Amino acid sequence: MNNQPIGFIDSGVGGLTVVKEALRQLPNESVVFLGDQARLPYGPRPAAQVRDFTWQMVNFLLQKHIKMLVIACNTATAAALPEVRKKLEIPVVGVIVPGSRAAIKATKTNHIGVIGTEGTVRSHAYGDTIRGKAKQVTVTELAAPKFVPLVESNEMTSPVAKRVVAETLQPLLHQDIDTLVMGCTHYPLLRPLIQNVMGDEVTLIDSGAEAVSEVSMLLDYFDIAADGKAPATKTFYTTGNAEMFDLIAGNWLNLTVKASRVVIDQE
Ligand code: SIN
Repeated sequence: MNNQPIGFIDSGVGGLTVVKEALRQLPNESVVFLGDQARLPYGPRPAAQVRDFTWQMVNFLLQKHIKMLVIACNTATAAALPEVRKKLEIPVVGVIVPGSRAAIKATKTNHIGVIGTEGTVRSHAYGDTIRGKAKQVTVTELAAPKFVPLVESNEMTSPVAKRVVAETLQPLLHQDIDTLVMGCTHYPLLRPLIQNVMGDEVTLIDSGAEAVSEVSMLLDYFDIAADGKAPATKTFYTTGNAEMFDLIAGNWLNLTVKASRVVIDQE
C-alpha cells in the first residue's frame, strides 16, 4: 500500500480527460497534475524539443514524490515514453498502447482511423503499434491540429468548433472505418462533435481513459494502491494562465479547481 500521489503530465488541459477517468475508477488515489500551457501546443514541435519539455515536467513531478507517472499526452508519449520509462524507478504509463489495444478489440471492419497532433501522426506511433499487434488491420492516421486550440480557448461547443471538426474529419468519412482513436487527450472534450460527424456506428476510443485501466492494473501488480484511509488529494499546476485552467478544469471535472502557476523551464 502507498498513499503517495499518481502524477499526470500534459501540454495543457487535455490530460484532465485522463484525470477525470482516474477520479472515477480510482477514487482512493491522490493525483497531482501538471499542464505545460505556457508552451502548448506540443503537436507542431520537433520530437527532441517535446522530449526536453517532457523531462522538465517529469522532474517537477518527481519533486512531489509521485509513486507512478502517467504521460497523459499522446505527443509526449510518442516522443519520450521509452526513455522516461527506462530512466525512472517508478512505473510509467503512456496512452498509445492502451488506446491501440482498445481499438483492435473494437474494430470489426479491420479499418481503424486515428486522429492526433502533427507530432503523433508524423511518428506513426499508433499505426506501428496497431499493425505490430494485428497486421490484418488497416490504419488511417490524420492530423487534426486545429482541435487543441479550440479546447484550450474553451470553445468546445462553439459554431466554429462544429465547422472545424466537420471539415477536418471529412477525409475519414466513407472509408469503412468503424473505430476512431482520439489520439490526443484534448479530443475527448470535443467528443459530441466528433461523434456527430463520424456517425453513431463509429466507436470512438479514448486513449487516456484506456490508460487508466492500465494504471489500475499496475497499482495492484506493484502493490502500491492507496489504502483508502487517508483523504485523496487533488493538486493542479499549470505553467500558463491559472484562471483559464481553473475554469476549464472545474467544468470538466465538476470540482472547484485552484491551480498554482509554476515555472519549470529553469530547473
Ligand atoms: C498538443 O499540445 O499539441 C496536444 C498534445 C497531445 O495530447 O498530443
